[in-house]
Amino acid sequence: MNISKRLQRTAALAAVVAVSIGLAACGSDDDSGSDDTAASAATDAAAPDSSDAATEAPADGEAISVGFVAVGPEGAWRAANEANVQETFSEENGFDLKYAPATNLDQKSQIDAFTSFVDEGVDVILLSATEGAGWEDSLARAQEAEIPVILIDRGIDPDDSSLYVTRIAPDNFGVSKSVAEWAVTALPDGGKYFVLEGPAGVSVVNERNDGWNSVIDSHPEIEKVGAQTANWSAEEGKSVMETVLKANDNDIQVVFAQNDEMGLGAALAVEEAGLVPGEDVKIATIDGTKGAIEALAAGQLSFVAEYNPLFGDTALDVVRKTLAGEAVDSYIIVPSGTFDSPEAAQEALPTRQF
Ligand code: AHR
Repeated sequence: MNISKRLQRTAALAAVVAVSIGLAACGSDDDSGSDDTAASAATDAAAPDSSDAATEAPADGEAISVGFVAVGPEGAWRAANEANVQETFSEENGFDLKYAPATNLDQKSQIDAFTSFVDEGVDVILLSATEGAGWEDSLARAQEAEIPVILIDRGIDPDDSSLYVTRIAPDNFGVSKSVAEWAVTALPDGGKYFVLEGPAGVSVVNERNDGWNSVIDSHPEIEKVGAQTANWSAEEGKSVMETVLKANDNDIQVVFAQNDEMGLGAALAVEEAGLVPGEDVKIATIDGTKGAIEALAAGQLSFVAEYNPLFGDTALDVVRKTLAGEAVDSYIIVPSGTFDSPEAAQEALPTRQF
């Protein structure tokens, strides 16, 4: 590949990374068919017909008050998910949504927001936990106040489903398993890999490790060099990967990045080490945001497993059913696909919504 072409690719990659860093920074002062996972009690989220569900304003005309204990700025996926929830629980749809993003991902700010929603007596609480542990007391208080709690994306640890109505999320175990299955095909003669993880203590990180290991553990020819958190960030993904490549004389064949931003950062580090992402080092990510699909189309990433963030309608359907006293499953899986080639990425780009 001639220098100018590589410079073009690097420039394009840097642009994508810059956007994702921008998304992460602003405001910071802020399955395909699962198997023996928590998803066993799960059902696939059939897209609710939001048209009639949405426009059904409360009989008494009073808006349904929803407290959304959210994560806040944390990258492209989070921005898409939280915007979709806010757009869905709109005034037109009969809701009064109170959006409470965490301050710098700090759990205490989330627990404080949760407590004020309980004290205020909102009708429903939506919770995306920045950390899995430490929610028992808050959830018990909501239960005492008969305020249903719906988990958005993130789980709690320990996972006591008697403390909440349902969790709505793609199947982290299944999505991650699909990445591992791709890695097995990408390394027919074996090879070495490194994992860029999300922050410790976040439920999806453990679930994604379990999904990956459920396949890779039976492939001794695929060797783990190590794993390290890069906090969902492109910057940290780049700096961690720079260190790992140096420490291993560039002898890494696959990088499993638990989200797009970390993978995009890793691709920059691979380029700056004089290697070619997609050839010398193959990088796989989870999320499927536009920046990653563009990088896959350009050959910088090699595999992208979608983690569909657009499940506002599913949450709305659950809220309606719950307030109507209807039972729902304790885990509702949001269907998500995979992209394993530049062609597949090219095809998806024109209609990509996130
Ligand atoms: O919980 C989902 C994860 O959180 C996404 O994969 C990541 O991008 C986000 O920040």
